[in-house]
Amino acid sequence: MGFFDDTISLSAPPEGRVEATAKVTGSGKYSAEYEVASLCHAVLVGSTIPAGIIKSINVGNARQVEGVIDVITHLNRPMVPAFADEAKIKEARFGLPVFHTDKIYFKGQPIAMVIAETLEDATYAASLITAEYAADQFNVDFEKSYKNAELKTAGKDRGTADSWAETPSVVEAEYTIKNEVHNPMEMHATIAHWTAENELKMFDKNQGVNNVQRMFAKLYNIPAEKIHVVSEFVGGGFGSGLRVWPHCLAAVIGAKAVKRPVKLVLTRPQMFTLVGYRPESWQKVKIGADNSGKFTGILHQARHATCVYDNFNEGITRIARLVYNFANLRTESATVPLNLSMPTWMRGPGDCTGDFAIESAIDELSYKLNIDPVQLRLQNLALEKDPDSGKKWSTNFVDECIKLAAEKIQWQNRKAAIGAISDGDWKTGYGMAVGMWNAGRSNASAGIKMLKDGSITVQTAMTDIGTGTGTAMQNIAKDATGISKEKIRIELGNSNLPPAPSQGGSTGLSSISGAVAAAVNALKMKLAGFAAAENDTYKNVVGADIILSDNGISYKTTNQQFVPYSVIWEKNNLQVLEVEASSAPGDERKQLAFCSSAAHFCMVKVNTKTGKIKIEKMVCAADGGTIVNEKAAANQISGAVVGGIGMALMEEQLIDPKLGTAIGNDLAGYHFAVNADAPIVEVIFVNKPDVNSNPSGSKGLGEVGIIGAAAAIANAIYNAIGKRLRDLPITPDKVLMG
Ligand code: MOS
Repeated sequence: MGFFDDTISLSAPPEGRVEATAKVTGSGKYSAEYEVASLCHAVLVGSTIPAGIIKSINVGNARQVEGVIDVITHLNRPMVPAFADEAKIKEARFGLPVFHTDKIYFKGQPIAMVIAETLEDATYAASLITAEYAADQFNVDFEKSYKNAELKTAGKDRGTADSWAETPSVVEAEYTIKNEVHNPMEMHATIAHWTAENELKMFDKNQGVNNVQRMFAKLYNIPAEKIHVVSEFVGGGFGSGLRVWPHCLAAVIGAKAVKRPVKLVLTRPQMFTLVGYRPESWQKVKIGADNSGKFTGILHQARHATCVYDNFNEGITRIARLVYNFANLRTESATVPLNLSMPTWMRGPGDCTGDFAIESAIDELSYKLNIDPVQLRLQNLALEKDPDSGKKWSTNFVDECIKLAAEKIQWQNRKAAIGAISDGDWKTGYGMAVGMWNAGRSNASAGIKMLKDGSITVQTAMTDIGTGTGTAMQNIAKDATGISKEKIRIELGNSNLPPAPSQGGSTGLSSISGAVAAAVNALKMKLAGFAAAENDTYKNVVGADIILSDNGISYKTTNQQFVPYSVIWEKNNLQVLEVEASSAPGDERKQLAFCSSAAHFCMVKVNTKTGKIKIEKMVCAADGGTIVNEKAAANQISGAVVGGIGMALMEEQLIDPKLGTAIGNDLAGYHFAVNADAPIVEVIFVNKPDVNSNPSGSKGLGEVGIIGAAAAIANAIYNAIGKRLRDLPITPDKVLMG
């Protein structure tokens, strides 16, 4: 017996996206595309220094430009109530109090905003704004600064830190990764509209409309119900939409000032400095094993960049505590404040960074021990219990992931000897690594509206940032009701709909599938209530007894005790039948631990003359519990793996240490993996239900696809050419010199 009485049995159809037509034909609207009467356009002006005080701002020329309605700075902005005094600013936990300070914390920090009739007028006027500053010393140099950040214990020690120092085999090494940026295709954008004195409507690109709603309720001290946030279509996020950023508040401030709706769309360069990034990091891993390959202990230390006006700690050492049995363990971390904007969660946050170091160190250990890396991992996995919480895993199939992926890539073709497979200057290598992610679940609600013709609309406030949440909801609603797919509409991304958590941390489907199951149950019971007037059978039923079809309600088997919807609707004079239900994690989460996992296997070719790396094969086997929609799930994994290729080989947001400026801040200057850099990613799913996770048996998949990918690639490069490259990205120069 599991924890849920509303378990859904799924047919897992490989169906396409519910929103595909809307996206492909352009009828689906992204936040910047809404037409709002008397809309005006805002453009942000960034600071030209990375630290100091604004002495004066010259806005006179900008105000002269035809079409300019207003110019907002810290001198004339309408007050945001939560920023009324310094103490409140910290309390609001917003990050940068945009236009409410004369202090400059990073280069490009918004110091002014032009609002004009057209985007062109606003852009031109913004170019005329200048400021005088009292410049301060600044620091954007992580490499030079990280040592000064004192490491602090992150989590409880296991065993003793030094008991394994004399272990036969020890690897100790340092790992570094540069800043990486999300940069989804769709730029962040907000249309802000004060529709009445204390009523705000926003079309905003984000990963959680209720989160945005709550933040503005706090900032303006108005009830959340007075704030309506729409984010119906989102063109990617990768974590950048999990916070409310300064530009979003700037649009709201602007709309208040000019008493008109204001649209603010970030430019592509602004996307590199105003909506977060994966922070630059340093790590040290010391790991030991006895002669049999049994891990004896690990020390994992990590530091990463943050900003000077707030703190962000992404928990790089968490992954060290999760995957393997280490009798002795110590994890330490620190953040390094720099004159940069605030970093944030980016796909596989923390774990993705930490995993690169640990899985690289384990690979190194495997060569020292002369044990196959697959074997070494298999013999050390913590498959029974989460070693950190001590709770039994509900399900943990990371071993199956490893075996499935090894088979797919034909791991037996790997040679342990370095460079043993070669073709002229090209050396072939194989590498692997594993990834894991806490598979969370939050409270969520869903509603269903049914019409007489048996069509239903399933609704939730949750956004779908491209992951396939809406499609999976349709699959679940179809299998839980019995109503055909064509009759099921999905509505998402609107704070007027039943509340839901942000789509983040790979918890979306786990949270919403329970809510959809609960709403379906509520719908069945409501229909049974009406059907009872026609047929006594329905007087005493439970949801599980009810079967719905396109035309009516039945008892236990299709068409038995059938009552058509038309009869129910006509007799009760119904228009729409509506239900709403919530679901929440419960005791199962107190008793058990939950994880999703992945094994990444990679085959690379490295050219020893040019340093070029070609990824020939990339296989990822993942455990995400029941796979609700295989196409969407495989998209999640292959997209994440391609992100992992970028992380391993290309992505680095460089900052000029002398000027504090982001370098290469456009999609040509910031290199990331494109089609030519990635093979067809072969995705395999374990596809076994975790019946304690939620009624659909699924576990989150968004993050594990990237966690481990970079280490697998670095490990394959080592196998090819014998160079242990510990500084990402692994560009050709490092291959040649490293
Ligand atoms: Mo993901 S970093 O939780 O959007």
